[in-house]
Amino acid sequence: MTKFNFEEETTREGTFSIQYEGTEPVFGRTGLAPFWIADMDIKTPEAITEAMKKRLDNGIFGYTIWKNPKFYGPVKQWWKSRFDVDLTDDMITYAPSVLYTVSEAIRLNSEKGDGVILTMPTYNAFLKVLKGNDRKVVSCPLIEEDDYAFDFEQFEALCREPENKVYVHCNPHNPTGRVWTKEELQKMKDICIQNDVFFVSDEIHMDFVRPKEDFVSMVELMEEDDPILVTTGLGKTFNLASLPHSYFITKNEPLKEKIVREFDHRYNVGTANSLVLAAIEAAYMECGDWVDELNDHLEGNFDYISDYIDEHLSEHLSFKKPDSTYLAWISFEKSGIPDAVMHKALVDIGEIAVSPGHMYDLSENGRFRMNVASSRKRIEEGMERIHRTIERLKEESKV
Ligand SMILES: Cc1ncc(COP(=O)(O)O)c(C=O)c1O
Repeated sequence: MTKFNFEEETTREGTFSIQYEGTEPVFGRTGLAPFWIADMDIKTPEAITEAMKKRLDNGIFGYTIWKNPKFYGPVKQWWKSRFDVDLTDDMITYAPSVLYTVSEAIRLNSEKGDGVILTMPTYNAFLKVLKGNDRKVVSCPLIEEDDYAFDFEQFEALCREPENKVYVHCNPHNPTGRVWTKEELQKMKDICIQNDVFFVSDEIHMDFVRPKEDFVSMVELMEEDDPILVTTGLGKTFNLASLPHSYFITKNEPLKEKIVREFDHRYNVGTANSLVLAAIEAAYMECGDWVDELNDHLEGNFDYISDYIDEHLSEHLSFKKPDSTYLAWISFEKSGIPDAVMHKALVDIGEIAVSPGHMYDLSENGRFRMNVASSRKRIEEGMERIHRTIERLKEESKV
């Protein structure tokens, strides 16, 4: 018996959502059925909304201390109950956002012009942050096999280059959904430590690993003073992206102090968002069941997409169900349709916004990323739009 309804129709009317109203800069127009940016058309669990309402009733939203037991306690409880990881208060630091922390970790561990290693494909905002901080993107392409594999040989060679100072890891990996094993993480860590490369692990998609027992956080491999930082938050898991917040975990006290000093003194953003603190407590203490059911729902959506492609589009599309995230990384390579033709057709014919693969890569890759975090009905509609697009291209002999 399921307790939660992920089929509920939702609306974002009047909310200025980027997903619906912000398509113009990327897709050249509005009015598209959106399946792109990574937020959900699924309501935040009621326990969280109720906790925020209660906090709202107080009516005062002044500067707020994050170093308090109602922040540390729920974070520790979540990590213990979900991943069997023991955290202590001094390992956990509140921060304004995941990208904020990634950016600070890069700034504090490298100089302008230095190289920062990223897998390719990569989460697109890492590219943006490196550019914004005048760091060089050093690409370590994943090897495309049945699944995506990490190229350790190439990685080691890149880490040996003295100008490459930081590696930004994504676990689970956006956009491929790859979940890294403990052995792989250990190897990456060893290579980084041997070559003095700082290791940043972005684990914001951690709650979408299916089954959850398969998730191994870099926290599990951290030893005292390791040059490693894990950053994560609740923005993805509980659909809270517009309430900026995050936290990071490290056993490197000097690094932690440096980052906190920057937050406090350079930017004066060292206080917590009072509504988010209420949300974190409710989410991490009460919403484990909701996350489990959400993952079942997402798994069902991925099955639907997989079956749909097998039945109608197998000549043109290939798709392997990911072990995590709510992002389907779909290849149209075998259709032979050039990237530009496909992406334009999806917008013009299908009137659908899926993220073009080149957003996540330095080169064309014959892929798009489809966000599946919504009701089955919306996914059905999305697949029909993709089908229609390819049928039309076929009619026009572009396939
Ligand atoms: C891998 C990854 N990291 C970070 C973020 C964004 O986190 P934040 O809004 O806290 O900076 C996203 C959002 O899509 C993401 O996919």
